[in-house]
Amino acid sequence: MDSTYNLSGGFKPTLKRFADLDGPDFFPTPAWATHALIENESFKGEIWECACGNGAMSQVLEKTGQEVISSDLYDRGFGTPGVDFLVASERRANIVTNPPYNSAEGFVKAGLDNAQRKFALLLRLAFLEGANRARTIFTEKPPSRVWVFSERITFYPAGAEIKGSGTTAYAWFVWDKDGNTGTELKWFAPGYRAKFG
Ligand SMILES: C[S@@+](CC[C@H](N)C(=O)[O-])C[C@H]1O[C@@H](n2cnc3c(N)ncnc32)[C@H](O)[C@@H]1O
Repeated sequence: MDSTYNLSGGFKPTLKRFADLDGPDFFPTPAWATHALIENESFKGEIWECACGNGAMSQVLEKTGQEVISSDLYDRGFGTPGVDFLVASERRANIVTNPPYNSAEGFVKAGLDNAQRKFALLLRLAFLEGANRARTIFTEKPPSRVWVFSERITFYPAGAEIKGSGTTAYAWFVWDKDGNTGTELKWFAPGYRAKFG
């Protein structure tokens, strides 16, 4: 059994994404959260979904007609398994993913190194906080845009019954190498969850 699911106390369909600080952190992204990104950010060239899980995000991106390359460290039945993004040296035009949260900083660094145009990470809004990040990422390489969700995203382990709602705020952090320096703070209009849920 995947260690992601070895959760003491069983699955409670409420509140926040389960802490999985030592595990692979496999939580498929609800389709509407990916639609929100691609309706507001354009991507020229291919998109690498570098922690693709079961393809939840890749499949939405593919629907836009763009070339999508999918890989994951683990074999989840989608894309190329065994690719550790934290040590990847492959360059691609764009990189889009929802990374394991405990490796978020590493994903930012690898994305900055490996995305030629744009890379977008779905992260907790609280990623904005923290002295260490203030000194490093947000001083040296701040995102070009932060898209705050006005609706809450709820993450469930794959196959779990979908009910309840989340209490954690998420945002898309976008680094655009063709953009200006500095960070623009933007909000998604409400309605994506109902339209694409
Ligand atoms: C939160 S899930 C998101 C899955 C998918 N991106 C989505 O949005 O539906 C994080 C994924 O990162 C993968 N992962 C963990 N560490 C990784 C690494 N170092 N390199 C690539 N993928 C990794 C996990 O196997 C898991 O599928």
